[in-house]
Amino acid sequence: MQIHISPDAEALGDALAQRIVAAVQANPTAVIGLATGSSPVAAYRAWGRIATSLGLDQNRVRGFALDEYIGLEAGHPESYHSVIQRDVVEVVGLDPHLVHVPNGNGEPGEAEAYDRAIREAGGIDVQILGIGRNGHLGFNEPGTAFDSRTHVVDLTAETIADNARFFASSAEVPTTAITQGLGTIFEARELVVIATGSAKAAAVAAALEGPCTEELPASLLQRHPNVHWFIDEDAASLL
Ligand code: GLP
Repeated sequence: MQIHISPDAEALGDALAQRIVAAVQANPTAVIGLATGSSPVAAYRAWGRIATSLGLDQNRVRGFALDEYIGLEAGHPESYHSVIQRDVVEVVGLDPHLVHVPNGNGEPGEAEAYDRAIREAGGIDVQILGIGRNGHLGFNEPGTAFDSRTHVVDLTAETIADNARFFASSAEVPTTAITQGLGTIFEARELVVIATGSAKAAAVAAALEGPCTEELPASLLQRHPNVHWFIDEDAASLL
């Protein structure tokens, strides 16, 4: 595990983006796992900027989002379909046809089909991750099995409260979601995790230095052979 700490969140985004760009340079059909949330936004901007400055051909880069709310129309501005299109596809310059987001209004079997699609793509080369205040990854809340596959979850009250800032009120936040499982995430060949701000400090410290336990989903990352953490000084303050 490598831990990069910087006072400058923009610099962290740049450093994370460099790892993605390196993966695309090594393999123009690389499969990148995409996270939503505010944490990786600077990294997506940096990825787009660096790729443009290098004239990198990204036409064949493939993407799989981590998760999606259940019950929002895909065209809702806060659906992860919309967020991935707005914050990633357009900013980075990817082919939208090659970027997949789980269907939050899908048929039974959608979760299994999504998991299978990732495997059939050859697995994820680099998975971008944020971390919830409760240590969740994607929407895998505390108590999720480390070997879980893509599945439907009930969101905790804490996650609903945290994500209410994107909606008019917490009553509008969906209460269920579909997420890549922890086992699915763990199979990515490289994991890059970004955490900024003091609200994440306790989760970061527990994930890095606490026991490896299903009560803290991000602590699973201690077992992965190729993880890079990008943490600002506030998020690192309890290390
Ligand atoms: C949501 C997403 C997670 C993300 C988390 C943190 O719950 N499902 O993938 O890591 O939010 O979001 P933020 O980066 O905005 O703090």
